Amino acid sequence: MTPRSVILGCGSYLPDRVVSNEELAQRVDTTHDWIVERTGITQRHIAEDGQYTSDLAIAAAERAVEHAGIEVDDIDLVILATTTPDQTFPSTATKVQAALGMSNGAAFDIQAVCSGFLYGISTADAFIKSGQAKTVLLIGAETFSRILDWEDRTTCVLFGDGAGAVVMQASANGAAHGANEDAEPGQAGHNQERGVLSTHLHSDGKLNDLLYVDGGPSSTQTVGHVRMVGREVFRHAVTNLAAVVDEALEANGLERDDISWVVPHQANKRILDSTARKLGLPAERVITTVDRHANTSAASVPLALDAAVKDGRIKRGDLLLLEAMGGGLTWGSALVRW
Ligand code: UT7
Repeated sequence: MTPRSVILGCGSYLPDRVVSNEELAQRVDTTHDWIVERTGITQRHIAEDGQYTSDLAIAAAERAVEHAGIEVDDIDLVILATTTPDQTFPSTATKVQAALGMSNGAAFDIQAVCSGFLYGISTADAFIKSGQAKTVLLIGAETFSRILDWEDRTTCVLFGDGAGAVVMQASANGAAHGANEDAEPGQAGHNQERGVLSTHLHSDGKLNDLLYVDGGPSSTQTVGHVRMVGREVFRHAVTNLAAVVDEALEANGLERDDISWVVPHQANKRILDSTARKLGLPAERVITTVDRHANTSAASVPLALDAAVKDGRIKRGDLLLLEAMGGGLTWGSALVRW
C-alpha cells in the first residue's frame, strides 16, 4: 500500500524588526496609502545584520518539530525551499541539519522562488510515497531583503523576511472520519483521509524575464537584485492560480465548496481577492497574512499556514488548498486534509 504523507505539525519564525510603510517612504518615493491600496501590505519583518536564512529556518524548524511531537532523530530528510541561501553552496538545508544535531538522513535545497514551498511539498510527498523517506522536515525560509534594490520603489516595498516549516510523515493510516485507508485518488474514502491528497506543479521558462534576479555565480559572479514586470506577473498569477485550484479539485473529484481554507502565496492582497472572485470563493475562506508579512517568497505559504493553525481557524479534518506562483514562472498547488 502506498503510504500517505500526513502533516504532523508546523512552525514559523519572523525576525523581530518590523519595518512600516512610513519608514520605507523615507527611503524611496512612495506612500503608505499607495502600498496599501495596490498591495494590502502595511508592514514587513526584516532580518538583522548577521541574521541569516539558516537562522530563520532553524527557529521555524525547531517550532515545527515541537508542534509535531517528534524527535529530531526521527527525521530522515530535510528539504529547504529558498532563493536566498546563506552561501552559493553548500545548501542551507545542510546547515539546518547540523544545527538540529542530526547526523543521519539527507538534506538539500529547492529553488522555485515563491513556489518553492509547493515544489517542496510535492518533492517530500514523492519521497514518502516511494519509501525513500519516512519523516521529512520541509522548510520555506528567506532573507529576501538581501536581494532587493532598496532604491527601486516598484519592488522594495513588496517583500519581507521569514520562515515557516512543516513535518511530514508517512502514514499507513492517515484516516480521519473512518475513511478507506487503501483508497487511491478517485476511489471512495480517498478524500477523507488526513494528509496530502495531490500536488500539481507547473513552470514556463519562456516567462523568465518577467521576474528574475540580475546576477548569479555563473553570469555576473554577483548576487544581483530582484527585477519584476509587476503588472504582467499579476496577470499570470490570477489566471494560473485559479487554474491550479480547479486542476487540484478535478483530480480529486471535489468541488470548490469542499475547500475549508485556501492557503495562498502572499504576494498581493489584490491577487488573493481576484483569485477568490474568479473561483467564486468567499474571501473569508482565504488565509491572509500579506498585510503583516508582505511577500516572503518560499516562506509565505508555511507562515500563513502556521498562523491559521495556531489561531485555531484550521482544524483537524479541514480540506486545505495551498497554492503559489513565482519566478520562472513557476506555480503549483497542494490539496491537503489537515
Ligand atoms: O511573488 C511572486 C509573484 N509576484 C507578484 O505576484 C507581484 C505581482 N504584481 C503586483 O503585485 C503589482 O503589479 C504591483 C504591486 C507590483 C504593482 O501594482 P500595479 O497596480 O500593477 O502598478 P503598476 O506597476 O502598474 O504601477 C502603477 C504606477 C506607476 O506609475 P505610472 O507609470 O502610472 O506613472 C508606477 O511607477 O505606480 C507607480 N509605482 C509606485 N508609486 C508609488 C510603482 N511602485 C510604486 C510605489 N509607490 N512603491
